[in-house]
Amino acid sequence: MSEETPVSVTMQKDGEVAVVIVNNPPVNALSWHVRQGLKDNFEAALADDGVKAIVLRCDGATFIAGADISEFGKPPRGPDFNAVLNMIEAATKPVVAAIHGTALGGGLETALVCHYRVAVPSAKLGVPEVKLGLLPGAGGTQRLPRVVGVEAAATMTSLGDPVPAPRAKEMGLVDELAGEDSLAADAIAFARAKIADGPRPTRERAVFGDVGVIEKLKTANAKRWRGFEAPYANLACVEAATRLPFDEGLAFERQEFMKLMMGSQSAAQRHIFFAERQAAKIDGLPKDTQLRDIKKVGIIGAGTMGGGIMMNFLQKGFPCTIVEMQQEALDRGLGVVRKNYDASAAKGRFKPEQVDQMMGLITPALELDALADCDLIIEAVYENMDVKKDIFGKLDKIAKPGAILASNTSYLDVNEIAASTSRPGDVLGMHFFSPANVMKLLEVVRGDKTAPDVLATAMAIGKKIGKVAVVAGVCHGFIGNRMLAPRQIEAQKLLLEGATPAQVDKVHVDFGMPMGPFQMSDLAGVDIGWHRDPNRIESIRDALCAEGRWGQKKQAGFYDYDDKRNPSESPRVAEIIEEFRQKAGIQKREISDQEIVERTLYPMVNEGALILAEGKAQRASDIDVVWIYGYGWPVYRGGPMFWAGLEGTDKIAAALEKHGFTVAPLLAEKAAAKAGF
Ligand SMILES: NC(=O)c1ccc[n+]([C@@H]2O[C@H](COP(=O)([O-])OP(=O)(O)OC[C@H]3O[C@@H](n4cnc5c(N)ncnc54)[C@H](O)[C@@H]3O)[C@@H](O)[C@H]2O)c1
Repeated sequence: MSEETPVSVTMQKDGEVAVVIVNNPPVNALSWHVRQGLKDNFEAALADDGVKAIVLRCDGATFIAGADISEFGKPPRGPDFNAVLNMIEAATKPVVAAIHGTALGGGLETALVCHYRVAVPSAKLGVPEVKLGLLPGAGGTQRLPRVVGVEAAATMTSLGDPVPAPRAKEMGLVDELAGEDSLAADAIAFARAKIADGPRPTRERAVFGDVGVIEKLKTANAKRWRGFEAPYANLACVEAATRLPFDEGLAFERQEFMKLMMGSQSAAQRHIFFAERQAAKIDGLPKDTQLRDIKKVGIIGAGTMGGGIMMNFLQKGFPCTIVEMQQEALDRGLGVVRKNYDASAAKGRFKPEQVDQMMGLITPALELDALADCDLIIEAVYENMDVKKDIFGKLDKIAKPGAILASNTSYLDVNEIAASTSRPGDVLGMHFFSPANVMKLLEVVRGDKTAPDVLATAMAIGKKIGKVAVVAGVCHGFIGNRMLAPRQIEAQKLLLEGATPAQVDKVHVDFGMPMGPFQMSDLAGVDIGWHRDPNRIESIRDALCAEGRWGQKKQAGFYDYDDKRNPSESPRVAEIIEEFRQKAGIQKREISDQEIVERTLYPMVNEGALILAEGKAQRASDIDVVWIYGYGWPVYRGGPMFWAGLEGTDKIAAALEKHGFTVAPLLAEKAAAKAGF
């Protein structure tokens, strides 16, 4: 061992059993010095004639929880992981992995080269690499089918979900369950009992099970895996294990692993993994900022958003007071909440008594006075500045000192709303996305006067209710909706020039978005934000609204819909587009899919560059998080700003210029340097 090598692996002896112990806090990741320590200590145990069996276990909170992802993309250091694993597997003395906490990824691969596995009942075992666009590349795809069979191996690798130890025992992944508090001793006893049996190298065991399950898995997950490479690569490796000798299977796995590792999808998925964690950090906030205590939550408005927002808090046990103007609206709103919970209970997500419990946390009210004891009040009434200012003015007189006053506004100026109170420091935006009980994104809008502890508390509460919270500055539409705007404008222009709604939408769906701009408009309601004057027809959208084509809810929007909401292209919409085209004197032409990408997606990057330069987003990766969790941007493309780097900022800037856009200075700068954001 060289001098600077941290000692993260040690060995103890218990009679004829050597216990190799990993201690690399916080999660015993497979850092280079752990690999070195495993090699050194196993070599020592194997060379020691007094040792007849070896136990591998970990100190601290968990077994080896996986690779050290901070080493990804860096020059390799220390011994090669596969070489260490092969050495353990080839041990001439039985090796037992003793598992607590989580054995994930490289951790489980390490356990798989051990000849036996014991685990405490609370342990979890899995290969989650697929979630980062990868596969278990140290033999996991080849050894798992030899231990648990093809079906379980295919499921574990392609879905990446960990398996609880008792289930792992049924699957044969764990040989024996240890006592929750006696793992060390139980593993030694187990090892001692296996001395007579000797080693059982996993590679020498036969693959079993029906390879046909792989195709079934593909069919069952076709929608979820659309566009993703990694689930299929994982399955290809498991399939290879069924027909190739072990070493050839390993070589195949290596080749597939390298393809994923070098490819853009895993880079994008790893980017988002870090971006999500980074988003929680608030720039320039004193470290010792004390959070405000939130015990009781108030919601104003029991419409689409208010009810959904409240559900998040009920699920975490917060008592909620919800205020509406009329009893009827209140009843309707609470009815929707109940219906949603009942539907989830029917699917087994909640027990019926849990639903009653959550509903029991609600205090319905018709007066804002009922919010006097709330620590956090979220307003979700109509998107109208006068209405919101009126409410915040009243809240100012009602809310207790120190209460946080938040607006769920989509576009309005949070500073102006704050100014209608005498305590603008307590005011900020908490912009949820629809359906608010489902969508993970929360934009926390920081007003000019928002106090640091108010911002920090809103971010923390967002996390507590299971959201991914991102800080946004005050501007029209904040981060997400502001970037949506240029896309929508361009999509409408493309219709006039000759594209159809179906063509524009298809380009977006093929790109990996859940739906295109017109499908989204039909789903949300074409009439959202419409001026409501059927005689004022200035755009295709106005014409649709004037005819009552308000989207799916009216079975007509940019598409026609049948009773089951299946869309078809609308001849009437084609006529409307044609009328506008003629009025505008535009010649219809063939529009290529590439042009649609350049004119709808590139302008989003441009807007993102403006948002970044104006400081309305703290960092480019926050913008990516917004688009992944709020709008379904494909994770494997890493969000618009990350994607800009893949696509080439120079290419994007040149195309924007060609189409007559003003290129944002920051984008131009990146383009000149051929750099990403
Ligand atoms: N719908 C979305 O997709 C979405 C997404 C994000 C944010 N938002 C924002 O959320 C807010 C609410 O939107 P929504 O879609 O839930 O609207 P909605 O029309 O479904 O609900 C608004 C509710 O507020 C109630 N209300 C109005 N004035 C009130 C008052 N003075 N006191 C108490 N209740 C009052 C109304 O009766 C209605 O039930 C808007 O600011 C909107 O921009 C909406």
